[in-house]
Amino acid sequence: MIQVRAGEMQLEKVMPMIAETSYRELHTPKGLVIVKGPIPPEELAELAMNEGLRAFRPPDRQHKALVEIASMERGMIFAAGHEKEIVGYCTFHPPDEFERWGQANIPELIELGGLEVSPHWRGCGLAQAILEVAFAGDRFEKNIVIATEYCWHWDLKGTGLPVFKYRQMMEKLLRRVNMYPLGTDDPEICAHPANMLAVRVGSKVPSDAVIAFEALRYQGKNMF
Ligand SMILES: CC(C)(COP(=O)(O)OP(=O)(O)OC[C@H]1O[C@@H](n2cnc3c(N)ncnc32)[C@H](O)[C@@H]1OP(=O)(O)O)[C@@H](O)C(=O)NCCC(=O)NCCS
Repeated sequence: MIQVRAGEMQLEKVMPMIAETSYRELHTPKGLVIVKGPIPPEELAELAMNEGLRAFRPPDRQHKALVEIASMERGMIFAAGHEKEIVGYCTFHPPDEFERWGQANIPELIELGGLEVSPHWRGCGLAQAILEVAFAGDRFEKNIVIATEYCWHWDLKGTGLPVFKYRQMMEKLLRRVNMYPLGTDDPEICAHPANMLAVRVGSKVPSDAVIAFEALRYQGKNMF
């Protein structure tokens, strides 16, 4: 059963803790890359989108989606940029209401939604740098951050990796920012054995939020 937490939550109690921008310069064999965030929507709108960023949808539509997420009260975009072009990014937002994770009233819950690096820029450490910049300092200490990794979103063809090697790569990448795979009976996650729910519980998350999240992970609907 989903536990709904009583009472009105004040937004500032569950907002990620560091509003200011985190920043890192990365000297790659392909040139200087600036990794930073959260990037405000106006700044994102001014940047170009690398043509290779099409893992989730065509680059122009994904660019629009990034600007929309950055405009949300609890949305955040962290990106890697070369000159005036976005070459990689990750998104954070409250879980969608049509998914299990968005159906309970757990304001501390935030989803790492999409992580993508353009094929031309892969293997240069960009994904790792974007995640490290995003999780810098105490930003998510008041949050439970989840990532729902569905293998049908992975670029198996582009990377040439078999599905379980890809899963290993994703798991290792997420572990670097202390996101760990946890069990769930969510039907979407259970639909393929390579899928994964990765979770990071911040050190300042109240115990009632943790208990509510535990109830959300296992709802006992798919046990038999
Ligand atoms: C997954 C993805 C973001 C990785 O981006 P990246 O910038 O190439 O990753 P990094 O260079 O930071 O590498 C991170 C780790 O993965 C490993 N890795 C990256 N690409 C790899 C490949 N093709 N084969 C084996 N290992 C690989 C790196 O060696 C590194 O591991 P290490 O720390 O042991 O050296 C990128 O492949 C991508 O955009 N894929 C399509 C979208 C997607 O699947 N997103 C994730 C789900 S939302």
